[in-house]
Amino acid sequence: MSDFKTAGDLTSMFAQIKELPKTPCVRCGTVYRGKEDGFVCSDCIEKAKNKKQEEVNKNKRINYLIVNSFIPKRYITAAFKPFNSVQKEVAYYLVDNFSKRPLDTSRDMLIMGNMGTGKTYLSCAFALEMMSRKQINVKYTTEQEIVSLFTRKEFKQLNILKNAQILIVDEVGKRRDTPEWLKIEFEELLSYRFNEMKPTLYLTNLIENDFYMAIGERMTDRLRETDVMKFVFDGDSLRGRG
Ligand SMILES: Nc1ncnc2c1ncn2[C@@H]1O[C@H](COP(=O)(O)OP(=O)(O)O)[C@@H](O)[C@H]1O
Ligand SMILES: [Mg+2]
Ligand SMILES: [Zn+2]
Repeated sequence: MSDFKTAGDLTSMFAQIKELPKTPCVRCGTVYRGKEDGFVCSDCIEKAKNKKQEEVNKNKRINYLIVNSFIPKRYITAAFKPFNSVQKEVAYYLVDNFSKRPLDTSRDMLIMGNMGTGKTYLSCAFALEMMSRKQINVKYTTEQEIVSLFTRKEFKQLNILKNAQILIVDEVGKRRDTPEWLKIEFEELLSYRFNEMKPTLYLTNLIENDFYMAIGERMTDRLRETDVMKFVFDGDSLRGRG
């Protein structure tokens, strides 16, 4: 006896399948025969798996960005919620300038103001938003840190700062006794970013003219030429109110 089906057998098999009720996949609605009610088709199962994997990858990337952003621990949970009207104005402009247009068209920004007025807080909070919402590579640093990296010849670290999509340079001009060659290196780094059209956000406690002294003549001309966007955080220190 043979297991081969005759043409007649096959016809009746197909007829039987055709008799089976049609059931839609609960996700995509594609109709299949011979499935139980409430089933999910293999296409939809595959799609869900991929989506979950994408989500996992995205969260890994965000985590990586934040851990490697050099944002100080004190500000690592900063919430992007402006405290007062000047912070609100700056927050609005940060979003407009960095998140609503291609980054190579973003303007450099300068936030001045006394100690404790929220310059670092608001900038770090914004950086965290850019990393988690748009997976933009934002790095935080200070003039002091850049100078010290040059002194230690940490060129790999310097390259990371040089090439960040957005760089926050805090405490510009705080250091007073920087040797000339280090000032030039600092200026070179800023100049490289400027030429590569990578936007930089400068923070300083200094008044405008002293800030320009700190970044050097060449960078001053460039920032003036491109009309760096300036803001002043005034008022009393916000420390202790957070
Ligand atoms: N938008 C804000 N939301 C919550 N806390 C804030 C905000 N702005 C400032 N602060 C508080 O004020 C303190 C001083 O701000 P900070 O950014 O360190 O000042 P600056 O960098 O201007 O010297 C912060 O530690 C924080 O507690
Ligand atoms: Mg600060
Ligand atoms: Zn489906």
